[in-house]
Amino acid sequence: MKILVVGGAGYIGSHMVKCLLRTGHDVVIFDNLSKGYRDAIIGGVFVEGDLADGEQLDRLFKSHDVDVVMHFASFIEVAESVKEPARYYQNNFVNTQNLLDVMVEHGIGSFIFSSTAAVFGEPQYTPIDEAHPKMPINPYGKSKLMVEQLLADYDTAYGIKSVSLRYFNAAGADPDGELGERHNPETHLIPLVLQVASGRRDAISIFGNDYDTPDGTCVRDYIHVQDLCDAHLLAVNHLLKTRTSNNFNLGNGQGFSVQQVIDCVANVTGRKLTVRIEERREGDPAVLVADAKQARSMLGWNPSMPDLEIIIETAWRWEQSFF
Ligand code: UFG
Repeated sequence: MKILVVGGAGYIGSHMVKCLLRTGHDVVIFDNLSKGYRDAIIGGVFVEGDLADGEQLDRLFKSHDVDVVMHFASFIEVAESVKEPARYYQNNFVNTQNLLDVMVEHGIGSFIFSSTAAVFGEPQYTPIDEAHPKMPINPYGKSKLMVEQLLADYDTAYGIKSVSLRYFNAAGADPDGELGERHNPETHLIPLVLQVASGRRDAISIFGNDYDTPDGTCVRDYIHVQDLCDAHLLAVNHLLKTRTSNNFNLGNGQGFSVQQVIDCVANVTGRKLTVRIEERREGDPAVLVADAKQARSMLGWNPSMPDLEIIIETAWRWEQSFF
């Protein structure tokens, strides 16, 4: 199949490109390189461009006979989305609508969307399944939920079939060490702790140790980026076979606290880590753990790297080889 990977130069998108190439697909990458990196594009046809530019998208679909579109290009910083909602609604919602409108014009009817656990807001119960109420508490989560809602309407009206995959905490790196997680500035826990281990950063801050959790620090469900890519492949197969739109939560169903992540990094790397306890970060729920039974039963998804130690080992290999 010919698959368009929008945002294929970013963290998860670049891993997806590698996974698609390995499984024999033709890949076209569309990325404006605002967050992604040219050197993360390891194959396929690269088109540098912006989702806001409808004419460019039109040319793209005229020159490439695309079967499926995967969309990874979005802004992902919760705190930034509160300060700059306009950028988040523009990039995550308006530009996605733009892409879908051009897809409708070109009769392309299969779409895989990178959604997020942030669509649920403060958990009402845990683990979080697909039926959990969706009440996002920040513009980032709202912009993603708005796309999910738009996709339901575009299915009814225009017949675009889609799968929205709600990632919990994407983590880890390509086991070959070729690709990894690079955000600038970095705000995610695992890469930051690894920067401390490698000596690129003095200390890791724990944002709050007075949460209602076993050790007082926040609990998250870390899912290996490779397992997310596998879910995308299964989602494409399911979409093409059933021609039905669906949403799936993707996580391991197992929570690790910030303190456990730091301890695990200390174990894996054998380095001593300086830790500082700081104030809570605004908008952080105490616990976010996925119930991914639906992805397991409907897609046949079975994460192959659920072990936090292995997730961290792959990320550590990348941290050591790249930086
Ligand atoms: N944390 C620290 N210190 C740090 C960085 C993070 O204590 O220096 C804590 C956070 O407070 C949080 C946990 O580590 O409790 C994980 O934080 P991340 O920033 O790594 O990830 P988030 O859970 O905040 O965010 C992730 C995705 C978002 C997505 C969200 C869904 O990165 O894109 O899950 O809730 F929106």
